[in-house]
Formats: sequence, structure tokens, C-alpha cells
Amino acid sequence: MRMVDLIEKKRDGQTLSKEEITFIIDGYTKGDIPDYQMSAFTMAVFFRGMTDEERADFTLAMVDSGEKIDLSAIEGIKVDKHSTGGVGDTTTLVLAPLVAAVGVPVAKMSGRGLGHTGGTIDKLEAVPGFHVEITNEEFIELVNKNKVAVIGQSGNLTPADKKLYSLRDVTATVNSIPLIASSIMSKKIAAGADAIVLDVKTGAGAFMKDFEEAKDLAKAMVDIGNNVGRHTIAVITDMSQPLGYAIGNALEVQEAIDTLKGEGPKDLEELCLTLGSQMVYLAKKANSLEAARELLVEVIENGKALETLKAFLSAQGGDASVVDDYSKLPQATYKIELEAKEDGYVSEIIADGVGTAAMLLGAGRATKESVIDLAVGLLLKKKIGDQVIKGENLVTIYSNRENVEEVKNKLYDSIRISSEKVESPTLILEKII
Ligand code: URA
Ligand code: CA
Repeated sequence: MRMVDLIEKKRDGQTLSKEEITFIIDGYTKGDIPDYQMSAFTMAVFFRGMTDEERADFTLAMVDSGEKIDLSAIEGIKVDKHSTGGVGDTTTLVLAPLVAAVGVPVAKMSGRGLGHTGGTIDKLEAVPGFHVEITNEEFIELVNKNKVAVIGQSGNLTPADKKLYSLRDVTATVNSIPLIASSIMSKKIAAGADAIVLDVKTGAGAFMKDFEEAKDLAKAMVDIGNNVGRHTIAVITDMSQPLGYAIGNALEVQEAIDTLKGEGPKDLEELCLTLGSQMVYLAKKANSLEAARELLVEVIENGKALETLKAFLSAQGGDASVVDDYSKLPQATYKIELEAKEDGYVSEIIADGVGTAAMLLGAGRATKESVIDLAVGLLLKKKIGDQVIKGENLVTIYSNRENVEEVKNKLYDSIRISSEKVESPTLILEKII
């Protein structure tokens, strides 16, 4: 087989066989196929697309390019959740103990990564003593015992995707539905999930800004999952403003605990109940989404969700008393208010901009070497649709620096106030089952 012939085939809109796709992914991973040929190939895919079968083959070839996590020693159906990213997305911190409390095993492998705030592991490390440096054996034992554990990413998962994603980044081929869908799904499948729940975000703060595109991406991922034998469902949710109120590591931990107590922001709670119901349903712990939701509401009300969180934190060295005493979480020195400059209604909170403001405070990593400040971040006091009066607080800035002018300017640029009344956006836009 010659790569040039396969590029030509795709360029002319023909369909590639499983053998041809495996040849491309294998060759590229090993370095036998150079970047310039792979670039031409991805551009051909960008214009010609891929059939359902090609997408499934492409995904599995990327899964096979590296290590695969074996979770078979964990009892039950392992359901993973993936969100296409957002700002202040605290759902994983809530969902892991929440669904574990109804018996769904959560074996979470997580990274640190770059971004506006830390990843799930960084956030959890705001709990004094908590650590993810556990062996694979301890990890499996803890999931069987408490139904939830988190371990740091190890091994060499989907190297083909890593290499290809970087190449797409510099060849204007990121924005192709078959390539995005196979990229995301390959990582979930390699991480050992039996079933997958996807939260595809749309709106100004999301990767897929347009609703129809988000829907196409969700459908593409659901089809890939189901075609390779992993039951997959998706929800499309609004990201035209950050989720909940907190953006920042310790602040999000606190918000997650509030939510597990039934005292969290309504949007965050609603999203967690929606995604959680799907996870419980896929794990076959309930016969319908409605019954699954009832189970989740019950464990919030009877305190079992909170107990599960405490057991999970203690098992990994964390001080579980933070749950009852938030002053044990890292605290910022300065709390500075962002005063509204005019009367009106909040019409827009550009999630990207707010995320960047949190990053300027030190809540996230700009490079792999950056050190995160777990205490700092933002607490929104207003959301879209809320009325504001000039001088009222829009956001409390939690900072370890006294001078936050740059952060304030970024926030003023990102929060728009209109003189007319604005409706608050619908959060759950569509379910794809
Ligand atoms: N996120 C991914 O993991 N892959 C893509 O291709 C796009 C977004
Ligand atoms: Ca949040």
C-alpha cells in the first residue's frame, strides 16, 4: 500500500477500507508516514468527510495505537462522562460521588492539563492531603470498595491522536466533525469505558459555537460509540455563560460540595442530575431516565452523596472535614468586588473572557510548568437575565495580589449589561439517545 494512493482516494471522495485506515494510523504513529502526507490526508477528510464505518475504523485504529486501560477487575458497568469543555465546569466533582452513591462504579483517570482553571485532579488537590499517586491495584480496590477513585493519567494512551491533533492544529483541520469525533471517542475508549455519556457544549463559551454543529458532533460521537460496541448517549447544553457561580479550584470544590448538599447553583444541579441520570441508566442501575433521576435526588436528600464524597476523599489521604468547614480549603488574601458601572440586566457573560480573567489571577496553567494557585478565582454574583443596579457587585475576585486592574478590565469586557430585560438561556437543549 502507498499513502499517496490513499490520499488520492479520499481526495476523490471514495471510501477507505479498514485495512487502509489501519495502514495510515499505524504508519503515522511509527513515523513511516510523514507529516506532509498526513496533512494532505486530513485536508481531504475535511472536504470529503468519512462514512460511519470509516469513522469507527479510524477511532479503533487510534485506540490500538497505544496502551488500553483494563478495568475488567472492577465490578459493574463502567460509565465515563466527557464534556467538550467549558469554563467553571464543576460537573465531574459533583457527578463522581453522586453516581457512585447509587452504586455506579466511577474509575476516573484524569489529567492536569492547561486551561483557565486546573483539571479535576488540581481541583481535588485543594482538599488538604488529597493525592492521586496511587497504584493501579489500589485504584481498582478503592473503586470496588467506595465506588469512586481518581488516578493520575499514566501510560501512553492514543499516541496517534496526540500526534494528529497537534498536526491538525497547525494545518487548519481541527474543525472537521469526523476528526473531532474520532479524536474524543478514541480517548474515552482507550481509557476503558463500557458506556459513555457526552456533554456537548454550544454557545459563545464553547468549542462548537453553533447549535447545529454541536448537534452534528454529538450525533457523530454517539454513532461511533454505538458502532464499536460502547453504548453512548449525548446531551447538548448551553455554554453561553459559565456554569454555576464559581471559577477557580478551591471555589469549585466548595460549589461541588454545596451541590451535593442540595444547596448548589440551580444550573449546575440540573446539569448534574441530567448527566447523572444518563450514567445511572447506562450502568443499568435504573430502568428509565426518570427512575435514575429519582435515585440521585434521593441520595442528595438523605446525605448518602455527601457520605460517598467523604469516604472518597479520606481514602485518598484527603481531609474530609472540609465538607463541613470550608475554611480548611485554601483561602485567598484579598476579596475584591467588581462594581456594576450602570443599571440594567446582564445580557452576556462571555465564558472565554471570564475564564481568562481567572487565569490571570493564577487559577490555571498557561504552560506545563506553571504553578496553580488553588485559592484564587471568581465568584459570579449575577448571571444572564439578572437585574443589576449601578455600584452593585457583579463578581467577587478572590486574589492573592492586591492589584487586579487587568482582571477587572477583562471582566468588564466580558460581562455585558443591557437596558432591556433579557431571558436567561435554556441549559439543556437536546438529548441524543
Ligand atoms: N478535542 C479533542 O480531544 N479532539 C479534537 O479533535 C477536538 C477537541
Ligand atoms: Ca462553576
